[in-house]
Amino acid sequence: MPTAKKPRPSIQDVARLAGVSLGTVSNVLNNPERVKADTVAKVAKAIDQLGFVRNDAARQLKAGRSKTLGLVVLDIANPFFSALARGAEDAAAEGNYSVILGNSSDDLSRESSYMSLFEEQRVGGIVISPVDGVTETVTALRGRGTNVVVVDRHIDASIGCSISVDDIAGGRMAVEHLLAQGKTKIAFVGGPLDFQQVADRLAGATDAVKASGSKATIKHIKTKTLSVLAGREVGEAIAASPKSEWPDAIFAANDLLAVGVLQAFMFKAQVRVPQDIAVIGYDDIAFAEAAIVPLSSIRQPAALLGSTAVEMLVEEVESPSVHKHRQITFQPELVVRESTARD
Ligand code: RIB
Repeated sequence: MPTAKKPRPSIQDVARLAGVSLGTVSNVLNNPERVKADTVAKVAKAIDQLGFVRNDAARQLKAGRSKTLGLVVLDIANPFFSALARGAEDAAAEGNYSVILGNSSDDLSRESSYMSLFEEQRVGGIVISPVDGVTETVTALRGRGTNVVVVDRHIDASIGCSISVDDIAGGRMAVEHLLAQGKTKIAFVGGPLDFQQVADRLAGATDAVKASGSKATIKHIKTKTLSVLAGREVGEAIAASPKSEWPDAIFAANDLLAVGVLQAFMFKAQVRVPQDIAVIGYDDIAFAEAAIVPLSSIRQPAALLGSTAVEMLVEEVESPSVHKHRQITFQPELVVRESTARD
C-alpha cells in the first residue's frame, strides 16, 4: 500500500521550527540583508531540515508581475533556434528573469498548448517564433493581458513587437553570390512555402535572377520539411538524374537542407562541389563551417534575435506606459566558404 504523500512544508512550519514570526521568514527569503545573521542562520537551518521550497509562482502572482518568461520555438533540434534560445535566456538572466522553453516542432496544436500553458502560469510575457499566421494568437493573448513578442517573423506594429531578418534581402544575396561565381542553372530547395521565411528567401532569389538580366534560370525544388533528411533526398534525386539536367548551383532554404544535399553529393554520388554544383545554405549555424564541404551560408544573428526579443518584452512588462510596439528587422550577411567558391 503506497504511503500517503507528506504535505509540503509550509512557511508557517519554517517559522514554528525556527521560533520566529512569518514576517521574519519572509524577510529572510526576500531581503536577508535586513535580518540579523544569527536569525538568518536559524531560518536557513529550519528550511534545510524541513526541505521547504518557496512557492515563487504564488509570490510573483501576489506581486502582480512574474519574473518568468515563456519562449516557444519552431524546432529546438535546429541549431538556429537553440542559438536563438540561448540569446533569449542570456538576456533574461541579465534582468533576473527565468525562461521556460517550449518546442512546437512546427505543429500548431503544440504551439497552442504552450501558449495556453504560459498564459495559465501567468508568465510575465511570451516570445514566440510562430508556426503559422500568429496575428490572432497574439491579439487574443494581449487582449487577455499577456504580452507577446514575435521573433523570426514580421508582424504589424498595431499587433505588437516583432524581430526578424530581411529574408528577401538574404535570398537575393545568396543568388547574387552564385551568379557572381558564373552559375546559371540555380535550384532553390525548400518548403513549405507557407513558412514566410521560405517564401521570402525564394522571392529574393527570384528577384536576383530577374535583375541580373542574364540567361540564368531558377527553379524551385519543393520539400515538405527543412531537415537534413529532406535535403539528402533532394541531393540523391539530383545526382541520380542525367548530368545534363543537373542545376549548377543550389540555394537551400536553410543550412540543415544544405548539409543534407552535401551528404548526398559526397557520400552517394561523386558530385564535385562547387565545380559541378555549388551549394549555399541559410542561417550559418555552427555546423556550417564544419560541414563535409565548408558551407557558404547567409548568416542570421540568431542569438541577437533572441536577446533583442527578450529585451523588448521586458521593457513592455516593466514599463508598459512608455513602451511603444516596434518592428526590428536585421540585415543578413553573406558568409563565403568552399561550397561555392574555391580559393
Ligand atoms: O525554421 C526554419 C528556418 O526559419 C530556420 O532554419 C531559420 O532559417 C528560420 O528563419
